[in-house]
Amino acid sequence: MSPRFVPLSVASDDTRLRLYGRRRGRKLRAGRLGLTETLLPRLRVPLAPAGALDPAALFPFKPREIRLEIGFGAGEHLAHQAKANPDIGFIGCEAFVNGVAALLARVRAENLGNVRVLDDDVRLLFGLLPEASLDRVVALFPDPWPKTRHHRRRLIQPETLDEFARVLKGGGELRFATDHMGYARWTLLGCLGHPAFSWAARSSRDWRARPGDSPQTRYEAKAHRHGRACVYLVFQRVPRPGEGLPRPPAGDI
Ligand SMILES: C[S@@+](CC[C@H](N)C(=O)[O-])C[C@H]1O[C@@H](n2cnc3c(N)ncnc32)[C@H](O)[C@@H]1O
Repeated sequence: MSPRFVPLSVASDDTRLRLYGRRRGRKLRAGRLGLTETLLPRLRVPLAPAGALDPAALFPFKPREIRLEIGFGAGEHLAHQAKANPDIGFIGCEAFVNGVAALLARVRAENLGNVRVLDDDVRLLFGLLPEASLDRVVALFPDPWPKTRHHRRRLIQPETLDEFARVLKGGGELRFATDHMGYARWTLLGCLGHPAFSWAARSSRDWRARPGDSPQTRYEAKAHRHGRACVYLVFQRVPRPGEGLPRPPAGDI
């Protein structure tokens, strides 16, 4: 049976800011607690009035691209990407305090100057970013909410796809990974039915293999240990009328 794509009403009390996982885990060690008190306030994304959050202005340099990672877990993917691309600005969003602290430890250890953090529900960010202000939105192994009656709590919903379509630049990417085949079908269905997204996969290799620039995440490693296959979906934001695709670097044509 194909998944039913039920709209999420962010305003409804039942679903508003309701998370699958916990916001707090084990007590933080003193060092990590210290990072949440000293480093986090310096990196935290301010919740500006609607449309008024200029993501490029969050960084002390002019970023070549801006990428948003939602639910970064312990931050291994985000920190890896940030280290490999010091000229790109990364915004990480994670509601689980221990995960945020783990990312902060990586930021400090690697001295990363291109990471900013929203330590809360990504939906608080919706509407704040200007249109066409991001180059990539990444959601790796978002909580699957497997029970049918909970599907409307999944991150991928018509409303969230509309928001991703709004904030992504033409030619920008939406990357999604999951080990839950129902959620993979749900997301494929949602994106294929959305006029702003296209899927360029040609063969099963395109969705069975992790994108080459991505390291394995903690959750993905756990899925493999339990013998679960993973699906990686990469969608392109269709350019708006008059919006050119990003130009390839000179010499690539
Ligand atoms: C299954 S874990 C995956 C973590 C990581 N991406 C990985 O692959 O290891 C999902 C993460 O998303 C976070 N999360 C869930 N809903 C969220 C939301 N609405 N906003 C921000 N983070 C969220 C959870 O706290 C959790 O850390």
